[in-house]
Amino acid sequence: MSHADALPAFDRRMFLATAGLAAAAVVLPKQAVAQDAAPAEVVEGAGGKEQITIQNMAFGTPEVKVKVGESITWTNKDDGMAHNVHFRNGPMKGKPGAQGKMLNLNDTYTIKFNQPGEYSYICTPHPMMKGKVIVEA
Ligand code: CO
Repeated sequence: MSHADALPAFDRRMFLATAGLAAAAVVLPKQAVAQDAAPAEVVEGAGGKEQITIQNMAFGTPEVKVKVGESITWTNKDDGMAHNVHFRNGPMKGKPGAQGKMLNLNDTYTIKFNQPGEYSYICTPHPMMKGKVIVEA
């Protein structure tokens, strides 16, 4: 007779539910590792090593170089005009998170780059706004 069989019905259900949660907890870290492997990811805060101002319908520094593991913060300084950062080519092409959220005045957006490559980007509603991030190993 197993330990679970020895328990009253309610306790047995709780035992099995708990065992199920424990099994799920073992699987979760693997998924977290897979997400960490994204070429680039959004991170909290505005502390990117490089800072790019968005103003007058343009990315203030159209081309920026960083190293793997470094981050860039974009800040929208266009009053009354929302913009975003949308990676359309390079390692983030077609990946979840390639299209950044819309940024209102003074909103910031910070991306950490995990893989080398050339990440060219636009602003979704204004595709004439272009920029490029070169990530070196
Ligand atoms: Co725009």
